[in-house]
Amino acid sequence: MRSFTWKSLSIALVFALGSVSPHPGWAASPAPVSGEHGMVVTAQHLASDIGIEVLKKGGNAVDAAVAVGYALAVVYPTAGNIGGGGFMTIRFKDGRTTFLDFRERAPLAATKTMYLDDKGDLVKGLSTEGYLAVGVPGPVAGFEFARSRYGSRPLKELMEPAIGLAREGFVLEQGDVGAFERAAKRLAKDPAAAAIFLKADSMPFAAGDRLVQADLATTLASIAEEGPDAFYKGGIADRIVKASVEKGGILSKQDFERYRVRELEPVKCNYRGYDIVSSPPPSSGGVIICEILNILEGYPLAYLGYGSAETVHAMVEAMRHAYVDRNTALGDPDFVENPVAQFTDKAYAREIRERIDPFKAGVSEALTPADFAESKETTHYSIIDDEGNAVAVTYTLNGSFGAGVVAPGTGILLNNEMDDFTAKPGAPNLYGLVQGEANAIAPGKTPLSSMSPTIITRDGKPFMVIGSPGGARIITITLEAILNVIDHGMNIQEAVDAPRIHHQWLPDKVFMEPYALSPDTLKLLATMGHDVQIDENWKIWGQATGILVGGGSVSEIEAGGGARYNGAVDSRIGAGAARGY
Ligand code: DON
Repeated sequence: MRSFTWKSLSIALVFALGSVSPHPGWAASPAPVSGEHGMVVTAQHLASDIGIEVLKKGGNAVDAAVAVGYALAVVYPTAGNIGGGGFMTIRFKDGRTTFLDFRERAPLAATKTMYLDDKGDLVKGLSTEGYLAVGVPGPVAGFEFARSRYGSRPLKELMEPAIGLAREGFVLEQGDVGAFERAAKRLAKDPAAAAIFLKADSMPFAAGDRLVQADLATTLASIAEEGPDAFYKGGIADRIVKASVEKGGILSKQDFERYRVRELEPVKCNYRGYDIVSSPPPSSGGVIICEILNILEGYPLAYLGYGSAETVHAMVEAMRHAYVDRNTALGDPDFVENPVAQFTDKAYAREIRERIDPFKAGVSEALTPADFAESKETTHYSIIDDEGNAVAVTYTLNGSFGAGVVAPGTGILLNNEMDDFTAKPGAPNLYGLVQGEANAIAPGKTPLSSMSPTIITRDGKPFMVIGSPGGARIITITLEAILNVIDHGMNIQEAVDAPRIHHQWLPDKVFMEPYALSPDTLKLLATMGHDVQIDENWKIWGQATGILVGGGSVSEIEAGGGARYNGAVDSRIGAGAARGY
């Protein structure tokens, strides 16, 4: 009797249908926004406007990224920030690439067990709420590092629009107010945060209300005037340290004075002829995206099809294997050896493929390495200028509105990034990540991140700029946008809108967005042993912002008829915009 396999079924279908090539894209998404000279895609339309104005006036993509970074700190306070941290991936017009790490560092007084009680149990909320959750912020140093080396405009000019929006305020739209409503209870606990981000009657802002941030305007103006020293050496650091000392935190002036940006080599790999440039440790993003792509390169995803059981099975198994590596072996490169070369090696991917059963779900517990002892917000923006310089920035306060605290007089929301460390090996963090020793807390150390600002080139030319928020899911969200464009032929808007799936080794579950998989596919996956669920805790599953160069989709690029720049803001974002010119 002929044995029946899903592989033989899909191969048979391919032959039956002749050539099943990816369709050129006619899904239920609006057309991407087009531009010939520049493109700025961010999660808040006023920030996109500011970025595109910088480009129109002759600033380069790095200038625009700095202006947008400060603007989002005003108009997108749930994640845009100067009190958190982030990463910037840059590809210059001549092909050089670099990566800036301006993520938070643990305070010098931090200890490995600072979030545990006497019995060694995690104390709920310590790593996420209030001053003890705060890492030393990096964006002010990071933006100035980028601008002074790679930008072309004065800091004051780039910060002016943000200062104006903080001082005069801006009118909130429907897409802005959801985050304020969701965070209202947390913000109410901190009088300085409540005074700014809640109305006088302690109610959340509604559409049509004006948000004015006078203290933040003063803070930004002093940074524009004096540069980062105003933040790290002057009165701003003093105020943050004072509030921290008074409210049980451990930040010291020395923490601010010794803050340094790291310029690092990006992680690189090649997927089906496309060159990927992404975030190295202390992010896990680039490494794990490359590892998953290398594994998936061995499967004919374009033929298996978007959302088919075989495609999803291959993706889930690749994610399962790569997330074990992420969660157990990666950490701050100044503190641990990261096996980046191994994890991004094609031969390593082949070994993993050989361990993947084509018909059966793997078991996460069985992958546990021997030495493993035991609302949410971020934002990504993508920019490209007329000369072809591309910048991808992901920065964050970690949770929505970070630790929910504002140091009085500064207007600065502070992060709760310390939760990204392994507070206790084996115990899940805010994103359900179960992590190990490599990411243990230590003074001055940076917690492992998933942020993945990514730039892709083809034949030495820019092809795609992409990234997303989404905690541990940032990696798979970014990955899926890439697969959707390269393997499934979607245009950039469809690629960021398409429903997503995610697996992160533990918990051993496949999470899906509503409608991501058909009932038939779900049945097939169940017979393979996959536990597929809709995650009730993740209503807004990432917010990707992407740019494709030369056409809205691969087929348009290959036909040579597309716009030069094609921008797409994820339809999951309330107030975002792609702006081109
Ligand atoms: O760096 C990280 O991986 C996390 N702190 C990112 C948090 C995040 O994306 C929250 N947004 N949904």
